Amino acid sequence: MIKSYYRKLFFATLALHMYSSASHSIRAQEKPSTVYAEKGYLTFDQKPLGSLDKPLVLRTFVPTGGVSHKDVLPNHSQGSTSPKYSAGSGKESTKEYEPIDGVPATIAVNLGKTLSYVWDTTECRLLYAWADGFLDMKNYWGDRKGGRRKGFGYVPKLYGFVFYKAQGIHPLQINGKSIAKLGAPKYLGYSLGKDRLPTYDFKADRHIVSLKIAPGPSTQTLRLDFTSTAKENLHFTSPNTQVEEIKKSPGRLSIVIRPNAGERISSEEQKVVIKKPTQEIGEKLYTTLGCIACHSLDGGKNHGPTLQGVYGAKREFLSAKSLTVDEAYLRESIEKPMAKTVKGYLTGMMPPYQLQEAEYDSLILFIKSVR
Ligand code: HEC
Repeated sequence: MIKSYYRKLFFATLALHMYSSASHSIRAQEKPSTVYAEKGYLTFDQKPLGSLDKPLVLRTFVPTGGVSHKDVLPNHSQGSTSPKYSAGSGKESTKEYEPIDGVPATIAVNLGKTLSYVWDTTECRLLYAWADGFLDMKNYWGDRKGGRRKGFGYVPKLYGFVFYKAQGIHPLQINGKSIAKLGAPKYLGYSLGKDRLPTYDFKADRHIVSLKIAPGPSTQTLRLDFTSTAKENLHFTSPNTQVEEIKKSPGRLSIVIRPNAGERISSEEQKVVIKKPTQEIGEKLYTTLGCIACHSLDGGKNHGPTLQGVYGAKREFLSAKSLTVDEAYLRESIEKPMAKTVKGYLTGMMPPYQLQEAEYDSLILFIKSVR
């Protein structure tokens, strides 16, 4: 009974949000699982993945991802604790339920291994983006075997590598004014383009804006295309975020945003604790954490300085005393890149990385080895 209820709920979610284009309308009388399986779509998978050709668009609760409630989620109520009720005794117990720690009514999109992001329909903004995984839906959809949802755990677990997080108030400015100042935005819905990537429509006061979110020109970048029907002047600004304007004209703004965060999150069964740091692990992390996107190993200049020969080299900074690169400096550069900015490079371009001790140490071993 419970099982069939959740199965229905699950497929209803899919029906509404995954295959919303007309050609994939659900034939209600058929058993959905067979319809999906025949078409090669996933069935009951708690860790679904889409692809660039077939993005997975899912309406769901998501973890807050540590974004600021005050600036990023001002229109979400935080909820409050509520007393637990015991069905057995018919009395309220002294225990209390904590409010659910997640963001409801978001749209999570997966474009395969390299890119996932969450768009929030309440704030009408991109909340965060990550690579190397998607959401573990077990809390929300229930277990494959038992088919049962876990108590009050509505919030799926994120796993992968978070490289972008919303910071500050709403980044979009219309005619020079942040839309955060125009009252709560109103979500109007999304549509799928020919390439099946979603475009989100929303209203801020009387302005009607559309935003298409697509993969950027290189890994860990995103392309955002804003359009507004009344041809206003659009501008995007966000603290600690590198924004490159590609196109700008009245009513149009196309930008590429680069990573501003670096945090690996795994659900329990994925978590790998590293016991002993090694150069080999460091070399792997250099790729999986995306350092490769900005640092070459062969002397070539990229967004960041090359890592070749950096250990022991002399460094000059924008506003700190020069020094000779040692382990402490390497560690600081990875954990708190804002602390010092190497001359000739941009402050705030490198995301801060929160890693296990052994991961920092492995990276340092690797960097020392690049001669
Ligand atoms: C989005 C681009 C970007 C990514 C990703 C990135 N960095 Fe950086 N990194 C930079 C920039 C730009 C600088 C120079 C500006 C500064 O000092 O903050 C820098 C500086 C550094 C420095 C100091 C280098 C020197 O010559 O003094 C180290 C070490 C470093 N990064 C390591 C890493 C490691 C390790 C990773 C991955 C875990 C990483 N970076 C990921 C852009 C990036």
